[in-house]
Amino acid sequence: MKKVLILAAGLGKRMNSPRPKVVHEVLGKPLLNWTIDVAKEAKTDEIGVVLGHGAELVYPLIPSDVKIFIQESQVGTANAVKAAKNFLNGKVVILYGDVPLISSEVVNFLFESKANMTILTAILETPFGYGRIVRKDGKVIKIVEENDATDDIRKIKEINSGIYAFDSESLVYALDRIKNNNKKGEYYLTDAVEILLAGGYVVETVQVKNPNSVLGVNTQKELATLIKNVKDDINNALMDAGVTIEEPQTTFVGPDVIVESGAVLKPFTFIYGKSRISSNASIGPATTIVDCTVGNNTFVIRSDCSGSVIGNNCSIGPFSRLRPGTFIEDNVKIGNYVEVKNSHLSKGVKSQHLTYLGDATIGEDTNIGAGTITCNYDGIRKNKTFIGKNVFVGSNTALVAPVKVGDGALIGAGSTITDDVPAYALALGRAKQLNKEEWVLKKRRDSSDEK
Ligand code: UD1
Ligand code: MG
Repeated sequence: MKKVLILAAGLGKRMNSPRPKVVHEVLGKPLLNWTIDVAKEAKTDEIGVVLGHGAELVYPLIPSDVKIFIQESQVGTANAVKAAKNFLNGKVVILYGDVPLISSEVVNFLFESKANMTILTAILETPFGYGRIVRKDGKVIKIVEENDATDDIRKIKEINSGIYAFDSESLVYALDRIKNNNKKGEYYLTDAVEILLAGGYVVETVQVKNPNSVLGVNTQKELATLIKNVKDDINNALMDAGVTIEEPQTTFVGPDVIVESGAVLKPFTFIYGKSRISSNASIGPATTIVDCTVGNNTFVIRSDCSGSVIGNNCSIGPFSRLRPGTFIEDNVKIGNYVEVKNSHLSKGVKSQHLTYLGDATIGEDTNIGAGTITCNYDGIRKNKTFIGKNVFVGSNTALVAPVKVGDGALIGAGSTITDDVPAYALALGRAKQLNKEEWVLKKRRDSSDEK
């Protein structure tokens, strides 16, 4: 069995935040999910996560196939592993919820390690805050935490990444013997080194090639630095692959986003979640896209889109809002101050100004006039609006759902549509206009007589 156990029970005191550390996001993805996804990418049979502090805020982030263990009080990394004792069998790789950049290749490498304990180490120019690897005759003899280190040990630049591979029997042997006699009074998993060596077990180290991949997040400043570094790496890789990023400093693309070569990302653009931006699409400026697919030659300008599929040759924005469940076919135009939610817009639909389309299905080439509102909510439930193809909805129409408008129908401006409209009918749902001839002149005359 190959198992990954992720420790994520700590509060992260140094974050100075009421929220647990691991829910803080890096490019739209919580820290903990970075580690979970690495474990999933590796050849892992089973993943476990140890939660504790603020567990109720962390639960929603955890996929259903990941086992959850609770550490009642956060008294150290060894105690956290102990909370998952039932999970330990076969080869176990320990990862941290606050060390997000480790690669799945390294995890696979650790799965194959032969020693009873293998420590992943790194050389850091500023090793402050990390446990140091202490060696004798070239062999690791112990790990000493910053707090417990002498000045000589503090000078050591080889640090403990906190990532290890254990065979489960050796791990349990060490867990049963770790004590909390250190400055913090915590049960340190790092003490496993001395305990295993004393018991005649084999402890080895492997040095990671890219030290940035084991950087932990302990403070808000470290989080900001990490976000910046990851953002730069992702932007550089995208530019190398033929994506135009006009201003990389203000462009943020999440790790699970695909941007095809030829796409253009304009300043102040954020693309997160599982989004895909096709070739020749242009996104931004000032646009946020989360979990969306954007087609070829589509422009999204100064807009906010989430959970939506947008076809080819569309124009979205400026100032449009697409909410989850929106499906937009090719050649659609969505303009300023238009909000679309859970709706299907067929080819060639135009809705250019000041509109709300919710729970609606709209046929090909239909024109939605300015100020149209689908009144989808009756205070109890959401109701659907069906509009056929080639319909002309006049400006300022309220469509009171559930309601159907047939193909080719025309709705007069200012109508409140409460009944279905047959195909090719003209629907007028407004008060008839009344003109009173010369009413203004008479009114003026009457009021001057009174004076
Ligand atoms: C730990 C290591 C240190 C290493 C560093 C690498 C120990 C004693 N120290 O220090 O050698 O250089 O990681 O980043 O292991 N956690 C729990 N329960 C607890 C305590 C911590 O689940 O009771 C979890 C935290 O949520 C976090 C991880 O373990 O994800 C590491 O804890 P943290 O307090 O950040 O340890 P460090 O001081 O960074
Ligand atoms: Mg840490």
